[in-house]
Amino acid sequence: MPELVVLPPTSWAAAVAQRLAGVVDDRPDVRICLPTGDTPRPVYRCLIERCGAGSSFASATIIALDEWLGLPPGDPARCEVRLREDLLDGLTAPPRFVPIDADAADPDAAAAAHDRIAAEGLDLAIVGLGPNGHVGFNEPGSDAASPTRVVELAPTSQAAAQARYGAGRTPTRGITLGMDRLLAAHELWLLVTGAHKADVLARALEGPETTDLPASFLRRHPRLVVMADAGAAAGVARA
Ligand code: GLP
Repeated sequence: MPELVVLPPTSWAAAVAQRLAGVVDDRPDVRICLPTGDTPRPVYRCLIERCGAGSSFASATIIALDEWLGLPPGDPARCEVRLREDLLDGLTAPPRFVPIDADAADPDAAAAAHDRIAAEGLDLAIVGLGPNGHVGFNEPGSDAASPTRVVELAPTSQAAAQARYGAGRTPTRGITLGMDRLLAAHELWLLVTGAHKADVLARALEGPETTDLPASFLRRHPRLVVMADAGAAAGVARA
């Protein structure tokens, strides 16, 4: 049974940031996989503020969760760019950062290289929840053993990218850490906010395990922590 933390939207980000800062304080050389997106952004903002007050990521290693393929270097939609702007560049002592090499001539080789980094061990993997139940870019059809790989993005993920970043340069493929690596992390956190994710979170936590909703496999992790705001947790019976 995962640990379920439900917080008011006003205190959610600060609470997650505080817990994450605690992880880094306890183990300065921690290896963490981090997502990008609307969900973690306020957490990162809080972290930057708290880091100024003492916590340090200087000895940590941050490993990217996923990345779009086909966007030009420096494109603001790139997960690498987002993570740098939303968190890493704001830290007084930046950690070692391992992005996914989306510009590699051979994306499969880039995925394999990223997988080797993750295989060295993840103390903590933090993931968001896609509206279609994806984790990273482990889209519907993925199972618990799905590896780090190049993926075709689901139409809903393409549409979400289009809505956020504008039409005309919507990538159709990405690279994601595999479900296998995420489930092998020592600890796994699922961050979810907003009433628009209430249904998908309820199904991920209390519906059947299914490849239609890859997040449902996260429950297999022995140390899964679900941190949701009250809106996202509204459909979860346990909450
Ligand atoms: C994106 C990413 C995921 C992210 C998810 C939710 O497409 N591939 O890594 O966690 O969708 O994003 P958001 O937090 O913006 O809702």
